[in-house]
Amino acid sequence: MESAQGRITPSKRRTIVRSVLALGLALACVSAVKREDFKTCSQSGFCTRNRAYADIAKENPQWASPFQLNPSSLRLSNGVLTGDLINVQEDKQPSDKPALAFELHLLDTDAARVRINERNPIQPRYDGVQDTVLIKPYGHATEGSYQKLSKDENGVLTIQYGAQNQNTVRISSAPFKVEFLVNGVPTVLLNDEGLLRFERLRNKEEPKVEEEGEKQEEETSSDPLVEQNAGGNDIEIAIEKSELEKKLEENLWEERFKEFTDSKPRGPESFGMDITFSGINHVYGIPEHASSLSLKATRGPDAPYTEPYRLYNLDVFEYEGDNPMALYGSVPFMLGHSKNSTAAVFWMNAAETWIDVEKSPEDKNGGILSWIKSKKAVHPAATKTHWISEAGVLDLFVFLGPTHRDIFRQYASLVGTTALPQAFSIAYHQCRWNYNNQKDVAEVDAGFDEHDIPYDVLWLDIEHTNGKRYFTWDEAKFPNPTEMQESLSSKGRKMVTIIDPHIKKDGDYYVSKEGADLDVYIKNKDASSDFDGWCWPGSSQWIDFYNPKARDWWASQFSYDKYIGSTRSLFTWNDMNEPSVFSGPEITIPKDVIHYGNVEHRNVHNLYGTMFHSATAQGLTHRNETNQRPFVLSRAFFAGTQRFGAIWTGDNVASWEHLELASPMLLTIGLSGIPFSGADVGGFFGNPDAELLTRWYQAGIYYPFFRAHAHLDSKRREPWLFGEPYTTQIREAIRTRYTLLPFWYTLFQEASVEGTPIIRPMFTEFPEDEAVFGMDDQYMVGDAILVKPVVKSAVVRSNVYFAGKEKWFDIKDYSVEQGPGFKDIDSPADKIPVYQRAGTIVPKRERPRRSSKAMENDPFTLVIALDSKGEASGRLYLDDGESFNYEKGDYILREFKVSKGVLSSRKVESAVPASSGESSFAEKAGGLRIERIVILGATTPLTNVTVGDRTVQVNCAQVGGSYVCTVKEPQVAVGKDFDLSFA
Ligand code: GLC
Repeated sequence: MESAQGRITPSKRRTIVRSVLALGLALACVSAVKREDFKTCSQSGFCTRNRAYADIAKENPQWASPFQLNPSSLRLSNGVLTGDLINVQEDKQPSDKPALAFELHLLDTDAARVRINERNPIQPRYDGVQDTVLIKPYGHATEGSYQKLSKDENGVLTIQYGAQNQNTVRISSAPFKVEFLVNGVPTVLLNDEGLLRFERLRNKEEPKVEEEGEKQEEETSSDPLVEQNAGGNDIEIAIEKSELEKKLEENLWEERFKEFTDSKPRGPESFGMDITFSGINHVYGIPEHASSLSLKATRGPDAPYTEPYRLYNLDVFEYEGDNPMALYGSVPFMLGHSKNSTAAVFWMNAAETWIDVEKSPEDKNGGILSWIKSKKAVHPAATKTHWISEAGVLDLFVFLGPTHRDIFRQYASLVGTTALPQAFSIAYHQCRWNYNNQKDVAEVDAGFDEHDIPYDVLWLDIEHTNGKRYFTWDEAKFPNPTEMQESLSSKGRKMVTIIDPHIKKDGDYYVSKEGADLDVYIKNKDASSDFDGWCWPGSSQWIDFYNPKARDWWASQFSYDKYIGSTRSLFTWNDMNEPSVFSGPEITIPKDVIHYGNVEHRNVHNLYGTMFHSATAQGLTHRNETNQRPFVLSRAFFAGTQRFGAIWTGDNVASWEHLELASPMLLTIGLSGIPFSGADVGGFFGNPDAELLTRWYQAGIYYPFFRAHAHLDSKRREPWLFGEPYTTQIREAIRTRYTLLPFWYTLFQEASVEGTPIIRPMFTEFPEDEAVFGMDDQYMVGDAILVKPVVKSAVVRSNVYFAGKEKWFDIKDYSVEQGPGFKDIDSPADKIPVYQRAGTIVPKRERPRRSSKAMENDPFTLVIALDSKGEASGRLYLDDGESFNYEKGDYILREFKVSKGVLSSRKVESAVPASSGESSFAEKAGGLRIERIVILGATTPLTNVTVGDRTVQVNCAQVGGSYVCTVKEPQVAVGKDFDLSFA
């Protein structure tokens, strides 16, 4: 039992820490994460046990995995191979039932799934993650689409699969190992290092009442080893356990951390396995960590980290850079890439997970292909990873591409793509903790108009409520919330309010009371009472989103007649949903609390935030009218979060280091399937100076989710408060975002269909250029725009890498750079290097307005960057920006192409038949003009531009070695086919 004092102290401590921190940061930007609040691997029993097992294996050159597949048990039918997996050390008697069931599923998307579970556990192991994470039952590869090759003399079973039969899986029985090969090249290897370990559920042995003699025996800490003497009789030899062997038994039944005890009523049930990316030196993914894009080694000589990467959703305020500590979200998806191959894995587990990364030395001799050709028995370059989860079943998907786009599609076909957001939500958001009252809101809103700075959304943090009771308003400060929202809405603007998952324990608060009446709170470990802990409102309860009744009830809270003072232009921010519990271990909820269906929290921790996010999105979608897309921002996330809304990287710091960190963090989250993400522009804690704030805006306009936010104790920093020249510079940056909104929206549509990231690491666009594999200080927006944020003070020149052999055009002055190679580029205070790649067409809207809504009827500009063959292509997607009518085909999707001196615009045919009719968006917006076409990279000035037999005005200017030509008013419409010839 926690004492009352135990509950209050940490919360107070936290509030104090937050305030002191903010104050401290005002003086100096120091890093102050409270590391001691969070576990290291050696403070976690199951991490210690599995890591010790890996150490034992590594120390022993003869090590072989004790797991063996019983060859006679293997069955392959309808794309599924099943068999019995035996641990020869544990299943000693022939009469022992096979302990583990092995399954290999070949999917119709060319992906594969490997599952290992206990065959007859004493109680079921949790296997429900798939019900929430997978979007639908997937199809198996049909008979005939894969081929079983006969077993070789070593008992290795080989199956060929994939649309082109390009993939092979080899399953070895003794020791157990699964190898995935692409075009004959070993790429992803399971249990190659023999680290598979599976703790079976067991009954706790009650300690015996000790007799005198026995006590003595135990104290020697030895384990009897049974051997046979020459006569065939068993003899027991007492062998001293090594330190590592002792670690294998650490904290099996109960675990303490600081003042907290984890009761672990089911005992140990962890498992681990190694996954080797063969021939691959760079692996990426497994957010969220404040670390580099290319993951660093955590094991082996010269490893930069000593701790494994940890996945356990936690509220780590003011986190530290260059660190594998867990943060707010978890996606157990890892992608490996080399010049020759790309592969990924998804470890579908929502319990606490640790991942070690070990790299074998880089292969300087041409990678795996040359190794194979050389037929030498030297191990190729490889990244060896070791995955360790606390509970559940081993459930792993393997994606072999062969390209990144294939992998993103294969992964998205399982966990879903990003929901197409409302158009306003990809524009600029203005937030702080807090806008104090209606007057403050009105003044900030007016400030944007006064300074001619566009913005779309004003946010209200926790102080807008009546005593942190969500869905209520502090009536003294916000007497007329409806009026306030309507005033914003009259300018096309929206509002977002915060709604957290902790509910103030207060019988007079209707939400608290309804929740209690419906019995929808998370329960204490004995399931007889509701769990309560401490968060912003003080003593609180947490809604159990695993209960379907709770989800529906929660969703119903968002209807306009329940959420009094909410309107159609009000949207939601879900925070603290790791969940953050100030009085709990590691500032979260204890692992032994109980969810609906008697599910221990331990099994589903990393999914809790997503369940909350999903229920909120459901609420916004169905509030009294059914045709408006939701917008919900969440702090916690898991695989699948992309289906429910955006996320952000939590409580960062107003420091140059955190500005720098944002790029690798957002790139990592994006390639792990969650493209709609951002970092607090300006930094949450502390006070950015004018230079840092300006540079942050210049970078932030290239975050998919673009929001400025600041801590309660920080100084006000609305974009105009630093005065000139900063106001002009920030205005210019935000306006640039607005001009590019058609391009961003088109990228979101692509992501919503294909599962592609929106901001992309250089290596996904230039997969053969090894120079970019570790690069995370510059990146691509879609396939067209290169961004290199300035992340250091007083920098006016930036070293930019221009990849590929084509040209790059500065998006402001159209100056030209030629790839490949690094070049120092001017980056004065009003500009960061941003370039358009040759061969692309970027749609824009160039008229400055106060909000994105106000741009709805504006004409377009197309910027065409010709490549060396005089070609280019690009797309434009448009819909009403807010309803679900696009699902019925009411949208415009155009493909623009330049070839042989002709720009053509054609409709992209889609699977959904387009609805038509005058009331449709496509019909109305199809007539919008393209008012300007800018052609970059022309080798001669264009003189003759025609559309049909009509001649159109064109002006050219020489920039560097080529020409920039502007075609004005070609009188073509965005929704109609046209051909524009230029010579
Ligand atoms: C958390 C959030 C932060 C928010 C604050 C108050 O620290 O991460 O964005 O402002 O809570 O709600």
